[in-house]
Amino acid sequence: MNAILPKIKEYSQNTNETTIKIKVLIDTLYNNQRLEKSQYKYILDNITEDETEYLYQKAFEAKMKHYKNKVYLRGLVEISSYCSQGCKYCGINAFVKDATRYRLTKEEIIDCCEGGYILGYRTFVIQGGEDRFYSDELMIDIIKTLKSKFEDIRITLSLGERNYLSYLKLYNAGADRYLLRHETASKRLYEHLHHDFMSFEKRREALANLKKIGYQVGAGFMVGSPTQTNEDLVEDLLYLKDLDPHMVGIGPYLCHSDTELKGNDSGTLTETLIMVALVRLQNQKALLPSTTALGTLDKKGREKALHAGANVMMPNISPTKHREAYEIYQNKICTGDTSVQCRGCIELRIKSQKHQVDLGVGDYIDLQEGAIK
Ligand code: 5AD
Ligand code: FES
Repeated sequence: MNAILPKIKEYSQNTNETTIKIKVLIDTLYNNQRLEKSQYKYILDNITEDETEYLYQKAFEAKMKHYKNKVYLRGLVEISSYCSQGCKYCGINAFVKDATRYRLTKEEIIDCCEGGYILGYRTFVIQGGEDRFYSDELMIDIIKTLKSKFEDIRITLSLGERNYLSYLKLYNAGADRYLLRHETASKRLYEHLHHDFMSFEKRREALANLKKIGYQVGAGFMVGSPTQTNEDLVEDLLYLKDLDPHMVGIGPYLCHSDTELKGNDSGTLTETLIMVALVRLQNQKALLPSTTALGTLDKKGREKALHAGANVMMPNISPTKHREAYEIYQNKICTGDTSVQCRGCIELRIKSQKHQVDLGVGDYIDLQEGAIK
């Protein structure tokens, strides 16, 4: 169980006074892009469904100010379900005996991107479990091949923790961005969710290294994970304000029955949308994906996130035959679909919400051509 957002869980109603206080705090956050620890805590402890619409609307306004109603698309290639790490929530962690393991060859990865390029994608997210098969040499070869084959693309890596030199070599080879969720900014919760050989400090150091090297960096966290509290979520907000990443991936925790955290409750749609909106209000220029986990939780989850501040979608371009095996959580959407189907599906969903598909490289706003920095 987790203990976050109690009044949302209980469907409570607030007095007028409390509602007004929350709305004033939301306005302050919109204007100043930061709140004190106790003010964030007040929002999380007291918010009910009655204030969520106001929160989403302000988050939507903040997004419109910087990115308009554009949604950037990224083609996602899930390259390996082998993983040496011990994230207890994840269905492909090293301890999950029955997980189906696969890895893509360099040629298969290039093929996926080639297909994705034809579909219009200009950012490729190369994501996988922490799999030592993908040495620096192999990754450099893949990055250089992609960059020489396709003009004007961005390469986003999401390959977990590697050392400084490795990150530097991949950056020098042409990688532009790196996604590494911090998972939680609370040391207590981090240690609860990960095996002992993993380190909270090492994770943060990796993120600091990525920033220092010059990547556009994506951090992020799960909402509703076992034992998570409002204090933990406040830590996430404060950490993200301080780190100031270019991207923030926020998704619900989805319980996987083959992991040691089996039997726990999953996070909920509303909890996750509230956190997306708060991050949009404090990290106003960040790129915020409307995550696949949200789409798994609720048929309209990804659409709803667009109205709470999200502005990126990451359709899958992995080979359909391997999609089921990349089961970080269960009932993942799109596992039976082809890249072409996902492309069409995503576009329809975006248009149905009166948003606009943007097939540019979709850099962080201050790094876009013509941006006033
Ligand atoms: N539920 C939700 N998100 C998960 N992730 C891993 N396992 C789960 C799960 N069971 C997220 C982690 C990781 C990202 C790739 O997927 O935050 O960083
Ligand atoms: Fe894959 Fe909808 S995005 S089928």
